[in-house]
Amino acid sequence: MKRIFPILFLILTVTGCMDGLKVAPTIQELGATRDIAFLEEGRKIYVTSCTKCHNALRISRYSQQEWDGILPDMIQKTKLTRVQAKQVEAYINAVLLSPSAVAR
Ligand code: HEC
Repeated sequence: MKRIFPILFLILTVTGCMDGLKVAPTIQELGATRDIAFLEEGRKIYVTSCTKCHNALRISRYSQQEWDGILPDMIQKTKLTRVQAKQVEAYINAVLLSPSAVAR
């Protein structure tokens, strides 16, 4: 009976991580080869600053057109600097363009 807990823990950890991949894939998962540090910053902003009012929403849930409508508004709400805005925008675009933009 005791052995169920480590197994349960493992399952929750693994499925928890998989969910994370879909919400905001890491730069390695995107297979980006350029501007890695810039994109890393963008991801950091997405998972920290963009989660102050709501959970991180799965990026691939919205189309590029939808993001074009949503993002400027959210950037303003988040009070990002010009550079931070560019970083988070670049990250979101990279996710949308990625072939691994995991299951919509
Ligand atoms: C100050 C609070 C706040 C911050 C910070 C914030 N949001 Fe939001 N966000 C909201 C609210 C409120 C809504 C729902 C109403 C709306 O669309 O304005 C929302 C909705 C959204 C939606 C769903 C829009 C839709 O039409 O379904 C997305 C996607 C989103 N936010 C992304 C982001 C991103 C990316 C950032 C960081 C750049 C961010 N948010 C930061 C308050 C915030």
